[in-house]
Amino acid sequence: MDNARETIKNVARIAFRLRARGAMSALRNRGGVAIMIGEALRESLSGKLSPGEKGWIVKIEQLRRSLCASRLVAPIRDFGARRSLRETYDRNDAGCRVVLRSIGDICRDASKSPFWCLMLLKLVEKLRPATCIELGTSLGISACYQAAALEMQGNGTLVTLEGADSLATFARENLQRVGLKNVHVAVGRFQDILGGVLETSQKVDFAFVDGHHEENATLAYFSQMLPYLSAGAVVVFDDISWSDGMRRAWQAIVQNEKACLSIYLRQMGLCVICDGGREKMKIRMPLV
Ligand SMILES: C[S@@+](CC[C@H](N)C(=O)[O-])C[C@H]1O[C@@H](n2cnc3c(N)ncnc32)[C@H](O)[C@@H]1O
Repeated sequence: MDNARETIKNVARIAFRLRARGAMSALRNRGGVAIMIGEALRESLSGKLSPGEKGWIVKIEQLRRSLCASRLVAPIRDFGARRSLRETYDRNDAGCRVVLRSIGDICRDASKSPFWCLMLLKLVEKLRPATCIELGTSLGISACYQAAALEMQGNGTLVTLEGADSLATFARENLQRVGLKNVHVAVGRFQDILGGVLETSQKVDFAFVDGHHEENATLAYFSQMLPYLSAGAVVVFDDISWSDGMRRAWQAIVQNEKACLSIYLRQMGLCVICDGGREKMKIRMPLV
């Protein structure tokens, strides 16, 4: 039984490697932004780190460990999408309720894992965006990774949006603890504040959508961002396979005429915005 399981795992590993190799060469041949994305994915999968990256990651992961171990309980306005509820985008309170949760639980449940955070860091480092936005700050772990990449390139800012004011306060403290000053945490519901954030930024080169994982909400935020996304901008969507609604949202995003390149990674999806005129390319590289 164990042997059979091991064999299945090995076959899956080989299949993944072959698919990944094919995806990398497709990205290289595509040229431009796709090359940078391919490099970011390749380095994330190999775990290759420069001394600068290692320094930041050690600091941020120390912070993650201390947050995950924290028993401090805080009142949190809970904006999270729930499979059992009908969609909340159009509701005034966004289905929000106040719950008491420990920082440790939030850290373990909500923060992206070190692998996905490394991928965000590599993407930001390779793409060198001047303006980044994040929807869904929570305790600020993924924001720390993106901001660290901006800090290493010596340019660029991140605005991260969070509806729960108590989480936004923790996130600001956490960013300060690791010494990152290039992030602004904006507090409010995405529905209410995204428009203002986009108006202030004028141009967005990189966006990470990691909150309010519902079909209508995801599509509404994407449409709202589109006029502000620069040519070659990359938008990363988390949890695209989380529910039927999110799978439909991802399909609609892929089909949008401005999304000339999409990369499906199972949990996350990357979409590259083009001026139009370029042939569409869809890449599937489902990571486990
Ligand atoms: C998955 S967590 C973000 C995790 C974070 N990106 C990380 O990896 O460290 C999603 C966050 O989005 C916030 N959120 C969800 N829906 C929202 C909405 N409609 N408006 C504002 N914030 C929202 C939640 O409060 C939650 O903190």
